[in-house]
Amino acid sequence: MSSVVIHGHTFKTKISSSEIQKAVAEVAKLINKDLKDKKPLFLAVLNGSFMFAADLMKKVNIECEISFVKVASYEGTSSTGKIKQLIGLNEDIKGRTVVIVEDIVDTGNTIENVWDQLKALGVADIKIATLLFKPNAYTKTVPIEYAAIVIPNDFIVGYGLDYKGLGRNLEDIYVLDYENDKK
Ligand code: IMP
Ligand code: MG
Repeated sequence: MSSVVIHGHTFKTKISSSEIQKAVAEVAKLINKDLKDKKPLFLAVLNGSFMFAADLMKKVNIECEISFVKVASYEGTSSTGKIKQLIGLNEDIKGRTVVIVEDIVDTGNTIENVWDQLKALGVADIKIATLLFKPNAYTKTVPIEYAAIVIPNDFIVGYGLDYKGLGRNLEDIYVLDYENDKK
């Protein structure tokens, strides 16, 4: 096991890159079977999903497209609170099968929001492919069709995920090491 220090906090290896690759391959296999002939559009939600999206797409062998979006948060009026808007979507997605590619589904706020926006744009069928899923934190009802790895409610970094901007470049996934992090 190895550890890294990010912003003064110690993280230890939790999921190795070979385990990640195996889990990603499983998801790709399901997608290749389920969405054959659907010509899906994969929509990777940046920044966190960039590594998962790249590895997943290398293993998807059906006819498909990929594009990238961001979820921008901004303060609305006091009555509406925080508004999340999907930006960067240039494709005509009416009537299509869209696979949202996410790094992690935690409470599900983000994914539900993206789901609602895509529905409003007339998408025929939406699937969610996430590298990580925290079922104990999930509060929504949107189905998480393809979850590569299910994890407890720990805070993790690496393979696209960050802690205050750092750690996205790590090849493995790390978890906060509470034992060695008593500060
Ligand atoms: P949700 O909207 O609560 O599902 O959270 C989704 C977003 O929170 C993800 O896209 C991540 O950016 C961030 N997030 C949630 N859990 C973690 C974690 O353990 N490590 C790093 N980022 C996380
Ligand atoms: Mg994300």
